[in-house]
Amino acid sequence: MPESQLRSDRVPRHVAIIMDGNGRWAESRGLVRNEGHRAGIEAVRAVLRAANDLGVRYLTLYAFSSENWGRPQDEVRELMQLLDRYLVDEMPEVMENRIRIRAIGRLERLPPATRKKVQDAIRDTASNDAMDLVFALSYGGRGEIVDAARKIARAAASGELDPHAIDEKLFASYLYEPEVPDPDLLIRTGAESRLSNFLLWQVAYTEIYTTELMWPDFREDHLLEAVRDYQSRERRFGKTSAQVSNEPESG
Ligand code: IPE
Ligand code: IPE
Ligand code: MG
Repeated sequence: MPESQLRSDRVPRHVAIIMDGNGRWAESRGLVRNEGHRAGIEAVRAVLRAANDLGVRYLTLYAFSSENWGRPQDEVRELMQLLDRYLVDEMPEVMENRIRIRAIGRLERLPPATRKKVQDAIRDTASNDAMDLVFALSYGGRGEIVDAARKIARAAASGELDPHAIDEKLFASYLYEPEVPDPDLLIRTGAESRLSNFLLWQVAYTEIYTTELMWPDFREDHLLEAVRDYQSRERRFGKTSAQVSNEPESG
């Protein structure tokens, strides 16, 4: 899909990806699942570059869910090591492209060495301003909502917050990364059509694109195809088609 067919005025500002299918990719080649996770790193590199070139402002990658802690120990260990390595190896390119790294999830559950690498990457890239790369790590959408509710309850109990002031906007400001706008486009690879506890609050009006491709096979052209599909949609946000077509274009 040549990039020229894409409209530069309707590039999704925030793309979120459920990177699924590493295990099946490996198994179909007679390899162990961990080989699939290793191969998935190349897709992460390619997609980050392509998203950056396209002008995507925020890219969120679902790298490890709260439920993934229940996988076999050696698989969890491999995923953590891959993350450790990625955060070190990619740093020169991340800095060069002024990419800011953020993380959402219960990071306190990460092994200390991994958590430190995540925290270092967040700190070292905090003033980068060209693009935001958000890693969902030890992340669950329900957990995020519960964590926000707990912070709000604490603020209300201490008298700092009036319960009458709690509305959607205030609630959202207690989520993990309130500065990051809701995703415009959610991509899921791996031939599944489910959310698997990803960004439950934020995807209320996100356009969803699924593909049969397994994550290690996903490349720039596939991202462009997903964006082209996104551009063919009409986002109505509950309004009528006539109302929406009279509004000025937005991402
Ligand atoms: C996605 O691939 C990677 C993570 C969940 C960390 P999977 O490991 O879920 O691969 P499949 O779905 O079993 O093929
Ligand atoms: C979702 O994939 C989590 C990530 C991609 C990190 P899973 O493979 O864990 O989801 P299910 O179990 O198929 O729903
Ligand atoms: Mg999976």
